[in-house]
Amino acid sequence: MNKTKEKSIAAIDQEIIWHPYTQMKTAGLPIAVKSAKDAVLFTEDGEEFIDAISSWWVTLHGHSNPYLAQKIFEQLQTLDHVIFAGFTHPAAVTLGQRLLTHLPSNQSRLFFTDNGSTAIEVGLKMAIQYFQNIGKPRGKIVALEDAYHGDTFGAMSVGGSQFFQGPFGDYLFSVSTIPTPVKGREEEAVNALKKILEEEEVAVFIFEPLVQGAGGMQMYSPEVLDQLIGMCQEKGVLCLADEVMTGFGRTGKFFASDYLENQPDILAFSKGLTGGTLPMAITSCTDEIFQAFYSTDKTKTLYHGHSYTGNPVGCAAALASLDLLEETETWDKIANIARLHEAFSPKIADHPMVKEVRQRGTILAIELQTSEGSSYFSGIRDQLNSFFIKENVLLRPLGNIVYILPPYCITEEQLDRVYEVIELAIQEIYETA
Ligand SMILES: Cc1ncc(COP(=O)(O)O)c(C=O)c1O
Repeated sequence: MNKTKEKSIAAIDQEIIWHPYTQMKTAGLPIAVKSAKDAVLFTEDGEEFIDAISSWWVTLHGHSNPYLAQKIFEQLQTLDHVIFAGFTHPAAVTLGQRLLTHLPSNQSRLFFTDNGSTAIEVGLKMAIQYFQNIGKPRGKIVALEDAYHGDTFGAMSVGGSQFFQGPFGDYLFSVSTIPTPVKGREEEAVNALKKILEEEEVAVFIFEPLVQGAGGMQMYSPEVLDQLIGMCQEKGVLCLADEVMTGFGRTGKFFASDYLENQPDILAFSKGLTGGTLPMAITSCTDEIFQAFYSTDKTKTLYHGHSYTGNPVGCAAALASLDLLEETETWDKIANIARLHEAFSPKIADHPMVKEVRQRGTILAIELQTSEGSSYFSGIRDQLNSFFIKENVLLRPLGNIVYILPPYCITEEQLDRVYEVIELAIQEIYETA
């Protein structure tokens, strides 16, 4: 009989794995999750965690959803993968047709990639090459301050975090930024954009519509975004909506762009696309953009692709997720989460530690007062995080911003527990400050 004690998954992990966004020296043992069901994660130590952030904002209908699993299984038995250049398959075509019924009505073509960052790269390439293909090259890109669009070089260039860009700053292309038009800064943003548009030939304006995710769940109104898009489109500037986080119901509508009058020219989406089961992303665009690439001239081709582009299993997962997303019951759940957030907001807003409570649909963000101001690296982040882990709730504060972005299957009871744990954490920090 083998008497040596088996090493835990977490311990083996610590010897061989390099985790994302993690300082491996100080991180401590990761939590090994052996299974998950609906909004609950089950660890190797027999603990249960409520997943209040949809596991990096991907899970829509809950973990290990049997319907999604069945559809993925069926697809795997029929067609696992096929090169997407020169070949196609039914799942991609059906998915394209169905997504177009949900996308803003000016969208007509879909380009597949495999994560949010690459969807952004493709959107930027579409915009830059569009102007070259029509013989009127434009150089400038405009982005919002505090934006986050991913970790590849193009996506980093249009992102706002100097800290993440750190060692790579010299390798990024130049971008003009305007203030995020949060309440009170709308005019500043409009004026900054106006100035740039007067002085430069702008190719593309990129933004996270209504909610900036990693930049601290900052929120702004559809009205001001409409104004910014309108100003751009008047000058022929292409507008790229990064719906990677906001897509698929998170903001209370199918896409955040559905709150707008002015339709973006390009949309990038991922995360919720497959309901949180498989990595896939899509960049969609208008027919006008597509026509600039449609040519017998080979140099006008969009030379971009990935091994798993249009993967049939990812497409089947996305189709299954759409089936569920098209059910009225899902939208009732989305509305109910929004209603519960609304009821909770005033309860926490008055706490002396709370600077602001913001909400858009199923996303609730609570910004805490700190002596250092708002920062991803705020000292209370680790304190909050440890508290949440101790209380078995998965919340991953963005610095001094605690947010909830739950899977739509979360129960009222689970959400109440999440609210309770947040209140307790804030009170503890307040008392120990
Ligand atoms: C708005 C937004 N854009 C792009 C990305 C990058 O997506 P991915 O992590 O899949 O590359 C993210 C990821 O959090 C995001 O929130």
